Amino acid sequence: MKERYSICVVGAGHVGLVAAVCFAELGNNVLCVDNDKKRIEDLTKTILPFFEPELEELLKKNVKKKLRFSHNLAEAIKKSDVIFVAVGTPPYEDGSADLTSIENVARLVAKNLNGYKLIVSKSTVPVHTGNKIKETILRYRNNHTNFDVASNPEFLREGKAIYDFFYPDRIVIGTDSSKAENILKSIYSSIKAPIIVTDINTAELIKHASNSFLATKISFINAVSKICDLAGADISKVALAMGLDKRIGKDFLNAGIGYGGFCFPKDLEAFVWLSKKLGYDFELLKEVKRINEQQKSNFVNKIKDSMWIIKSKRIAVLGLSFKPDTDDMRFAPSVDIVNSFIKEGAILNLYDPESIKEAKKIFSSKGKSSLVKKGQQVKFCKDIYSAVKDCDCVCFLTEWKQFRKIDFKKVKKLMRIPFVADGRNMFDKVKLEALGYSYIGIGR
Ligand code: UGA
Repeated sequence: MKERYSICVVGAGHVGLVAAVCFAELGNNVLCVDNDKKRIEDLTKTILPFFEPELEELLKKNVKKKLRFSHNLAEAIKKSDVIFVAVGTPPYEDGSADLTSIENVARLVAKNLNGYKLIVSKSTVPVHTGNKIKETILRYRNNHTNFDVASNPEFLREGKAIYDFFYPDRIVIGTDSSKAENILKSIYSSIKAPIIVTDINTAELIKHASNSFLATKISFINAVSKICDLAGADISKVALAMGLDKRIGKDFLNAGIGYGGFCFPKDLEAFVWLSKKLGYDFELLKEVKRINEQQKSNFVNKIKDSMWIIKSKRIAVLGLSFKPDTDDMRFAPSVDIVNSFIKEGAILNLYDPESIKEAKKIFSSKGKSSLVKKGQQVKFCKDIYSAVKDCDCVCFLTEWKQFRKIDFKKVKKLMRIPFVADGRNMFDKVKLEALGYSYIGIGR
């Protein structure tokens, strides 16, 4: 029979909370711990700290049964056999990751080692972190109780996190202990996916290499989109034909205004930093980052070329989160693009299905990082049609599903000038031009 474990998940962020809810759904007893007391109180009442499809339903189903929340990590460690560490590893200025929270957890585990425990790192961390966790526990433990350390990097995407947990492309287990390997294999036994078992260093590197490769694919297609613009070719067809070659694959070949979010930009920086520390200058990844930055200014410049003067023009910006199905605006391309419009003196109508609350923190004149000048109008709109009213341009920055159903005849009547700037190549250029729109996309 399949063994059930008492699992502690440390960190109720995107990775930790999704893992905790899903481990409970798999039948394990789970304690999810976070030092943010308000977050823990909210979660106990099934109030989510962020938007993630399907998460609320699974939380409601499991909370107070298989899943409990706490802010007392020491107690949670004592009660658990397996401790998944999914705390934040925010970036320092130089790109390296701040691993303070991970070290704190390791020390607390050491002090509360009341029986064999398996400590599993799920956070994205630089290679050698697992070994440091092991050293820290050995240094701080006050008895000789056994423990193991493993790395089990998480590959889930925001917006598709629940699906990715239950249907992953692979599960990576990095450990030098066969006991740890068997426990993790048992926890994941009902999930059908290839399991790669390796040493801890290799597992940690797999995660950084995967994210960096995906970012490279995006920057490659974005660089080709620039050539398409210059040559008068269509990037959508180029990507389609390239992607049909199985060695290339069709995913992550959508040209656009670049990648954002809290993973790719941060992980790329961290990988460049780590490589340098190990003695390799990862020039390729620096270029990937440069192309990504350029993509945003290229898009703004195209709009400027078309509108000539942006000052006092009304621009609707639709889609502010870094991608669809999330309210996350961390490192979203929209932040730099909207800020460029603000600097140019545009009047802005902003709309997003989920991230307006976040957008208000960033762009409203009272926001900490806001560039909005006194008297400059930035409106946060309730729907697409109120956002486009009287606009000289409508910009699409995130490919939310609801945007694909837009009634462009109605939009044309509402806009002052029918001009679509499509930052995600969502729409049919020919159809929009036939309706009387001017259209600019990326590489087409
Ligand atoms: C990414 C990885 O895809 C996950 O496997 C990984 O677990 C996660 O980072 C992480 O390290 O935690 P995520 O950041 O949620 O997941 O989002 P993605 O779906 O990968 O998209 C990242 C960015 O790339 C978005 O801004 C998206 O718009 C952009 N993108 C993606 C493109 O511009 N073109 C594409 O073809 C695909």
